[in-house]
Amino acid sequence: MMKIIVAQNGQDMGRKAASIIAAQVVLKPDSVLGLATGSSPVTTYRQLVEWYKNGDLDFSRVTTINLDEYVGLGHDNDQSYFYFMRENLFKDININMDNVFLPNGLAADPDAECARYEALIAEKGPIDLQVLGIGVNGHIGFNEPDSTFECFTHVVELTQSTIDANARFFATADAVPKRAMSMGMQGIMQAKRIVMLASGEQKADALYKAFCGKIDPAVPASILRLHPDVTLVADAAALSKFD
Ligand code: GLP
Repeated sequence: MMKIIVAQNGQDMGRKAASIIAAQVVLKPDSVLGLATGSSPVTTYRQLVEWYKNGDLDFSRVTTINLDEYVGLGHDNDQSYFYFMRENLFKDININMDNVFLPNGLAADPDAECARYEALIAEKGPIDLQVLGIGVNGHIGFNEPDSTFECFTHVVELTQSTIDANARFFATADAVPKRAMSMGMQGIMQAKRIVMLASGEQKADALYKAFCGKIDPAVPASILRLHPDVTLVADAAALSKFD
């Protein structure tokens, strides 16, 4: 059964989600964390950094596996997810960068890179705790609405809705990459625990369809209803359509 934790605001959402991640790392110092990008987890990552700086957390034995990366963006491109993770979390904690994994956006053959990433998930996983955001269209990672659920890491053609939603981070909508590589549903669903973060009215519809509707690949997050341990940390606006 899904647990719902109501957050008062973005900072509170960050503290609550970071508490769950911190507990995971304290209980199992060599945890494998599945990490997400986007604006939703930023306050969570900054809270983890603060606790690390206070001496409360040790990431030296933690492994991280990120959900996704844009095709064509390298580590030094400030829109790449690698760059995001380094700036918001990795550069400020004592993680061993040899234990940090994201798909390589500059791989010459993206399909081969997806196969490599899938093998890596199988080798390092299963993920102990997976952090997720949710797209306005119900996507998780970059698993876009479709007629089937994609099992494995795959190259995705981004939908116009996602390109428009992510355009705010780029100079123009045309600058948003059209393709990405994303972990598939198997990697996500094999995670032992999942914590999803969502805030704002613009997520209300996606959350409602995902958790109150039917399980449908047109709303990718709805697959989470089959997972035994999902915690949703969300504000009142994002939860406004729940009964
Ligand atoms: C992006 C990412 C997702 C993220 C989602 C929501 O496209 N690929 O992993 O969860 O969009 O982002 P945000 O938290 O900024 O709303």
